[in-house]
Amino acid sequence: MSVPSPRPLPDEIAEALSSVASRLGSIGREVIWYPEISSTSDVAASLAEAGAGEGLLVIADMQTAGRGRLGRTWISPPGAGIYTSIVFRPSPGAARLLTLAAGVAIAEGIASATGLEPELKWPNDVHCQGRKLAGILAERGADHIVLGFGVNVQQATYPPEVRGRATSLELELGRSVDRALVLAECLAALAARYRDLNEGRDGAVMAAWRTRAAAMLGRRVEWDVAGASQRGLVERVDNDGALLVRTENGLVRVISGEVRWIH
Ligand code: BTN
Repeated sequence: MSVPSPRPLPDEIAEALSSVASRLGSIGREVIWYPEISSTSDVAASLAEAGAGEGLLVIADMQTAGRGRLGRTWISPPGAGIYTSIVFRPSPGAARLLTLAAGVAIAEGIASATGLEPELKWPNDVHCQGRKLAGILAERGADHIVLGFGVNVQQATYPPEVRGRATSLELELGRSVDRALVLAECLAALAARYRDLNEGRDGAVMAAWRTRAAAMLGRRVEWDVAGASQRGLVERVDNDGALLVRTENGLVRVISGEVRWIH
């Protein structure tokens, strides 16, 4: 894509980022802001392919073609959420658990900024009371990963297929939320968890992930493999981030995709 010209960063975002600057590591070395863009991940990927350095941060007030995992749309109305993507150039070791670490970090950032303690649903959906609050999309290029995340800050009008499964910070907390502060705390937490990966503290990342995903253990889940659905009981997550599910045919290792709760 040809990358549109960015606009000046709004004051409240510039101030929030500068208040956490000492905790951001490489994240936000360069920051690009758009009032409206197709997808922050598309812009970040184009710039990464053109040589942008690690930490390039693309933020938008709204997206017209926000993308989720598994080919889904990410509803991105103006001012209602956080829509941001970051270019990482991780070592193979840090790349392995980057998406799980990002899930932990977004949950931690939300907790620091608002006091809400979100849960994680494998692989990295951020939930509150069983409804989705934030999502992460990691897309790998030849020599980089673009990590995009979206957080529902204000309740939006979601399409019928996600309406019952989505929530927002303001709905959960029953008050208005400082979007710039949530963004800044999520980025600071992401930098801290990325540092853990780079310094070999994978165990700490996995322990934090397991604590926040404890509600998944023992749950009955269903998932699709080559058009057929499989079912089983969640046993645990292994050290590579795969989900281990006990089925009638033994223990199955689920490495990608999505699982659905069976009630
Ligand atoms: C998911 O399906 O859970 C992942 C959602 C990721 C949405 C974010 S919003 C910022 C970035 N740009 C996109 O188009 N998608 C990601």
